This record gives sequence, structure tokens and C-alpha cells, in this order.
Amino acid sequence: MGKCIIISNRLPVKVSRADGKYSFQPSEGGLATGLGSVYKKQNNIWIGWPGLFTDDLQQKKQISQALLEQQLFPVFLTAEEINQYYEGFSNEILWPVFHYMSTYARYENSYWEYYVSVNKKFADAVLNIYQPGDTIWIHDYHLLLLPQLIRQSKQDAVIGFFQHIPFPSFELFRLLPWRKELLEGLLGADLIGFHTYDDARHFLGAASHILSLNTSLNTVMIEDRKVAVEAFPMGIDDKKFTMLINDREVQKNIQHLKSTFSGVEMILTIDRLDYSKGILQRLQAFDLLLEHRPDWREKVSLYMIVVPSRDTVPMYRDLRNEIDKLSGNINARYRTNTWHPINYFYRSFPVEMLSALYQFANVCLVTPMRDGMNLVCKEFIASRPQSDGVLILSEMAGAAKELTDAIIVNPNNIAELSQAMIKALSMPEEDQKRSMQRMQELVRKYNVQHWASSFMQRMEDLEPATVVTPANQVSFLSSQYIRNRYVRAKKRLIMLDYDGTLVSFTTDINAASPDDALLEILQDLVDDDRNKVVIISGRPHTILEKWFGHMHIDMVAEHGVWVKKAGKNWESSLKESNTWKKQLLPILQVYSDRAPGAFTEEKSQSLAWHYRGADPATAEVKANELMRNIRYLIADQPLHILQGSKVIEIKNSGINKGKAALAYINDATYHFILAIGDDVTDEDMFMAVKAHGITVKIGNRKTEAAYNCNSYKEARQLLHSLPSRHLLSKWLDKLIHIVPYPEFGRESKK
Ligand code: UDP
Ligand code: G6P
Repeated sequence: MGKCIIISNRLPVKVSRADGKYSFQPSEGGLATGLGSVYKKQNNIWIGWPGLFTDDLQQKKQISQALLEQQLFPVFLTAEEINQYYEGFSNEILWPVFHYMSTYARYENSYWEYYVSVNKKFADAVLNIYQPGDTIWIHDYHLLLLPQLIRQSKQDAVIGFFQHIPFPSFELFRLLPWRKELLEGLLGADLIGFHTYDDARHFLGAASHILSLNTSLNTVMIEDRKVAVEAFPMGIDDKKFTMLINDREVQKNIQHLKSTFSGVEMILTIDRLDYSKGILQRLQAFDLLLEHRPDWREKVSLYMIVVPSRDTVPMYRDLRNEIDKLSGNINARYRTNTWHPINYFYRSFPVEMLSALYQFANVCLVTPMRDGMNLVCKEFIASRPQSDGVLILSEMAGAAKELTDAIIVNPNNIAELSQAMIKALSMPEEDQKRSMQRMQELVRKYNVQHWASSFMQRMEDLEPATVVTPANQVSFLSSQYIRNRYVRAKKRLIMLDYDGTLVSFTTDINAASPDDALLEILQDLVDDDRNKVVIISGRPHTILEKWFGHMHIDMVAEHGVWVKKAGKNWESSLKESNTWKKQLLPILQVYSDRAPGAFTEEKSQSLAWHYRGADPATAEVKANELMRNIRYLIADQPLHILQGSKVIEIKNSGINKGKAALAYINDATYHFILAIGDDVTDEDMFMAVKAHGITVKIGNRKTEAAYNCNSYKEARQLLHSLPSRHLLSKWLDKLIHIVPYPEFGRESKK
């Protein structure tokens, strides 16, 4: 088993230099504190920025050597890269948009250019270290392009991505000028994880709206791969916080707090400086409490730690000034000689002090406007040996999905926040314990080890499904096998579906006309007089005629309603009445009106309601409703409904590609039969052909076909690789003994 390569913008260790000496401090922030607890356990390595800027080669070498001892590999960034990629694109564009504060975003094109180049820099660092068998685990919004950049060089790599911040709804995400590139970048991964199911849902929505990709349940289908998208709520290192409870240093700190805050209840808040954390709103709520409840003055203090963060970004600088002003103002109005309403610290603290505060505080106030998860609240819970204390938690934090026993508040509702503080301060001890015990169980069970191992386990489980290597895939060996059979056959039947099989399945139904390369491949097959080539499609015969009428090729249109033998005229196999169409057409029209972009196609013997051009979410709902309605309406008629890829087709029963294929098979003796298709409607053809020939399905869905290939491009490659008449000299015919193959099945598993 290979190593795991973890990559994030920031390493879990921050390097700083003072008086010519380097010092190494733990980084703040949930990503570093959470994952920092688990990465060292195996032979994992972590690649990231060491948090300082240096141009000096000698210094870079020294830092790299010191970090290597901790399995850390630095990526050094220039001052301009830090400015444009980190402060600019990551924290002035992605951070505000992903935290639903899009008006703070500054869409600078130079930020984007640096974002691309720094992501490439990270990709180079990974590719330098990567060895086959390694697992790659990328973290957070700074590196959204990295999965695809790595995938481009390492097709087979197992790549996971975890986002530690929210993924916004499509309405927000679509604001980004580079939304398409960002999604494509992420989709280079095999597994994409978020803290909550809502984030995963938002991502799937964006992939289907913006890239028009098919998503089903938790999977995004890409041309030749599947990407799993799931929720993995992150936990904390609970044992670390339990161990800290009895630590000498921690106990000393608690004694000190006891003497300073005797007779005063403590409300604790700990955050990085960030407008997403709701610090100002919290101060306003505390102000309101002191104003309306004078009985609480001198009896409660807010202990507020704000850890310096990104203070070179203008919005953060402004926020700091406002916090300074508001907290100063509250203190100036209410303080007494012996009591400070707010104890405000603008710095970070060692974990021994944090643990003491978590243990000592009566209430922990965690009220972000948006937060991917929030680990502070879980650390508070893990630090309460008596299971007392109250957590007030914003419903906008990912943690609120799990910690439902907290007092859940809307952080925008200042009055509600203020009342929640009073409720928490007055809560009877048995109520505190009941809630706290339940939350403690949860925090212990779903700790950071559980989070990391679930993600890694999922990556392992995914391998066969996502890195598409099913046993029956058209591989080098099986395409060789297909070619051998082809070469030795005297008479061959080749039946090919069109959309999604010979051309890409596009959302624009009119944009799928055959290109020159395809016409050339088909012409080569047709030129060989041993071949009967049949295009077998759901398209109307008029369209097939327009596209292939000039070729000496057989065509089956509308799933078998119309057939044209090469060089002959079109013939309809059906003479039944079509009065049912008149009845259904207006209904389909109503559904098209309700799902803009959807439309009805009237074919001679069928009706098709296409929704590839419509908003996927609306259209799926409408399609299901339409299916139910039609089933009811046609219950007593000899009609058949087919649900294909973004199309519902209603036609006279008894017509399907299977019957059309059988008619060909029964018509003559063939030594080689090949059927290729991609859609559910092609399954009828596979059923008919599988006992007689080779069946190939494009894509990885469940199928009756014997073989899979990943995309229409691979199907074209396969057809192109079949030796053509003019390449194979006639004398070969005489040399090769022609053996008919009565039986074709799946190739035995390797
Ligand atoms: N933290 C820290 N030093 C401090 C204050 C906080 O290391 O002085 C840690 C805290 O223990 C927690 C992390 O910073 O693990 C904050 O993570 P959270 O998920 O709550 O918020 P984020 O900063 O990731 O948005
Ligand atoms: C959040 C992000 C992390 C980031 C941390 C600290 O937790 O999800 O990716 O490292 O904040 O922010 P900074 O900008 O200092 O790395």
C-alpha cells in the first residue's frame, strides 16, 4: 500500500523568523488543527505553504530540512503569489462567495491568473513525489484546480478532495466568472467530500446546471469516469482534549481564571478574525443583554478571543477596526472598577489556555453567519468532564446539523441571540447535563480519526467503480479479440446507435450532426463488401436521411418504425392508426411550457418529449410527473413508454431496437455481429444480439451488453481499428480459414 499525500494551501506548522532564527508554531484554523492530529500516524506526507515569504535559497533549504523531519514538504510562494492567489483569489473571491457574502468579492482577472499558476506549482510539487499506488488527498478552496491538473498527468491516480468551507447554492456559485473552470478542476477527483449533505447537494446542482453533466444520487457522470460526491462531517481529536483536562499547565490556568472571574459567569467565544464568524453581531447581542437586563451587569463577562487572520486583506482589516471600536464602546459604557463586560484578546493562545477556557466557561457562543463545520464548539464539548455547560450554536454552522442539542440560533437575529444567552446562563444543571452528554457521545464517536478513516475507506471502496476498470471493459486484449473475430469473418453485421454512441450526447439536439471523421470511419466500414452497416437510432427517418442518405448504408429510424436498406427507399413497418398522438400532443405541450427548454418532437409513429435543454432539477420532476400521467392515459392502448437519456418517448408497442436488430440477424447468416449503443433503448438491441454476437455499451451503467467502453470516442477508436478492405490485401482472405463463431459471451474475468 502506497503513502497518502495530503495537500493544502497551509501546512499544519507555521514558520516565522525573528532575530535570524526560525520558529515553528502550530497553524490555526480547523483544517490544520483537525487533520494535523491524524496525518502523522502513517507514512503520510503533507505538502503546503509554510506561511512565510523568503527569496533566499539557503533559507528555503534550511526550512525544508526542518519540515522534512515532520513529514512536511513546503511549497514556497513569492510575495506576488501570496498577494494574488492567496489573499486575492482565495480570500477576496472564493471565501466571500462560498460564505454567501458575494458583495465582498473583487473579481480581478490577475487574481485568477495567479490562482491557475499557483495551482500548477502545487501540481508540480505533487507529481515530484507521487508514486504509483499512492493516494492523493487535496484540501480546501485554495486548490480547486489541483485535482484535474494532477489527473491530466496521472490518469490512474486515486484522488480525493475535501472542502472545509461551505459550497454555496448554485445561485451564488454561478456568480463566479470562472465557475466552469473551477468545477472542471474539482471533477478531476474521484471522491469529493463536504462537511454537510447540503454542500454536496449544492455541488451536484452546480455540476448539472453549469456543466450539463448527468448527476444521479451522489455521483457525477463524466464522459469516461464517475465522481462520487458525499458528506463527511469533520470531527476533532477528542482524546487530545480529554487528556488536556488534567494537564498541569491547564489546571494552573484554570486556577488563575477562577481567581480573576470569581462570582462572574463566563461566555466564551473563540474565532479567527473573519466576517463569516458573526463577531460583530455577537457583540451587538451582548450589548442588548446588558442594556435590557441590568440585573446581569457585573455578573457575566464575555471572554472573546479573536485570532489574527488574513489581516492584509482589506475586509479583514476593516472588520478588526470595527470589533475594536464596538467592544471598546461596550466596555466604556458598562465597565466598573472591578468588572469588565468584555475581555477581548486579539492574538492566538496555546492549546493549554484554550483547554482551560473551554473547561472554565459557563457558556460557549459560536454564532457564525456561515461556517463549513466549526471545530471550536466540538472542542468545548470535549472539554467538559462534568458534562455541564451550554453551547449556543448558529444554525449556519455545519456543526448545527449534528449538535442539535445545542441552543440553535439564527445569527442575524440579534434579539434572539441575546435571549439565547440569558436562557443559557439560567439553564438548570440537569438540563445542561442532558444535552451535553448527548453531544459528548456524538463528538467522541465521530471524531477526527473517524472522519479521516471514513474518507480514506470510501476512496478505497470507490476504486473499482470510479476508476472504471470493470472486468468486461473493452481493453487492449478484448479489442484485439474483437478485431481477430472481425478479420476472420466472411460476412459481418455492424449495428450502431447514433447519439451518445458515435457522437457526444449534447444538450442541443440539433447540434449532433456527423462530423467528417465519423463519416470517414463509416465509409471505411461500408467500403468493405463483407460488411452490412446499420445505423439504428431513435431519430426520425428524415434526419437520418439528411445525414447518411448519400452513403450505401442501412438505416433504422424511430427505434424500428422506419427501415431503409442500402440503396432502397424508406419503408414503414407500421400501419396502425396514430390518433393517440392527437390526444397526447397537447399534454406534452403543457409540460414543455412548464419546463422551459423542453420540447416535443413528433415522429411519424411516436412522440418524444426531450428535456436535455431544460433546467435539470425542474425537468426531472416534470418528467416523472409526465410519465405517471401518460401511463394513466394510455393504460388501455397498445402503446409503450420509454424513458431514455433526457427523453420520454411514447410509441406503438411492439417496436423497439431489439426487434429491428432481430430482423437483421434472421435475414442472413453472419459470422460476426457487433452492436454498440449507450442508452436504455439500446438494451433491447443488446438482448437480441447477445446470443449471436458482440455487444458494447458506452458508459458504466447496468447493462445487458458484454462489454463496456468509456465514451463515444473509444467506440470510434474501436471501429477505426477494424482493418479496412483496402488495407487488407485480398490474398489474406485466402490464407485465413473462415470459422463461424456460434457463441459469444463475456470474456472470462482476468
Ligand atoms: N485555535 C487555535 N489557537 C487559538 C484559537 C483557536 O489553534 O488561539 C484553533 C481552535 O482550537 C480550532 C481552530 O483554531 O481548532 C478553529 O477551527 P474552526 O473550525 O472553529 O474555524 P476555522 O478557523 O477553521 O474557520
Ligand atoms: C479555514 C480554512 C482553512 C484555512 C484556515 C485558516 O479553516 O478552511 O483552509 O487554513 O481557515 O486560514 P488561513 O488563511 O490563515 O490559512
